[in-house]
Amino acid sequence: MRLSNVEFKAMNNAARRLLQRTVEYPLFRRIGLTEQNCDILEIGCGSGYGAVLLSELRPRSYVGIDLMPEQIALAHQRRLPNAEFMVHDAAYLPFADESKDVVVIFGVLHHIPMWRKVVSEVYRVLRPSGRFFVEEPDGAAVARFEQVFAWGHAPDALFLLSDFERFLRETGFTVLGQRHMMSFGWYHARK
Ligand SMILES: C[S@@+](CC[C@H](N)C(=O)[O-])C[C@H]1O[C@@H](n2cnc3c(N)ncnc32)[C@H](O)[C@@H]1O
Repeated sequence: MRLSNVEFKAMNNAARRLLQRTVEYPLFRRIGLTEQNCDILEIGCGSGYGAVLLSELRPRSYVGIDLMPEQIALAHQRRLPNAEFMVHDAAYLPFADESKDVVVIFGVLHHIPMWRKVVSEVYRVLRPSGRFFVEEPDGAAVARFEQVFAWGHAPDALFLLSDFERFLRETGFTVLGQRHMMSFGWYHARK
């Protein structure tokens, strides 16, 4: 789903980038995001700041997709070498089976009512033993947040992290690592 105007602004400012750089990305690194020289897909890449952080891994290729053309326009403005950005719906990934080594998500699935379909698509495009690094908030916490701040999260996209973790395993993933902090979960799963 597209972001509301208020959430779009909240996602595209210096404070958000600071949080992503100093907390969210380091947590992924700590639970095992170390792969160098690999093919990375980032889902819901937003303004492309995740691509800046992930460039530290010197990927062989990086593709970021996002539903919102406004986000992809911002990502293109970064003019990152070796990074490709495209407008696309994560529920229908335009990539061949077993064509990616690593898929990364910084807080996106809780905007997608078809989040289970996205997880299945991630499984499809990962190579055998490929890695899925995903950060999401717990749906119950987002629902409480909505009652106060009304950012426009769709109720039918919200899920509990316990259900999310169960679905990862049902899809075929093995969860190798996870961290939880302030109603958010970070997962490292292997295909
Ligand atoms: C909360 S923002 C996070 C953006 C970025 N990952 C970050 O951490 O700053 C969620 C992003 O997911 C994108 N998004 C929502 N639904 C999507 C879908 N079905 N397919 C691809 N991207 C989607 C939104 O446009 C938005 O940029």
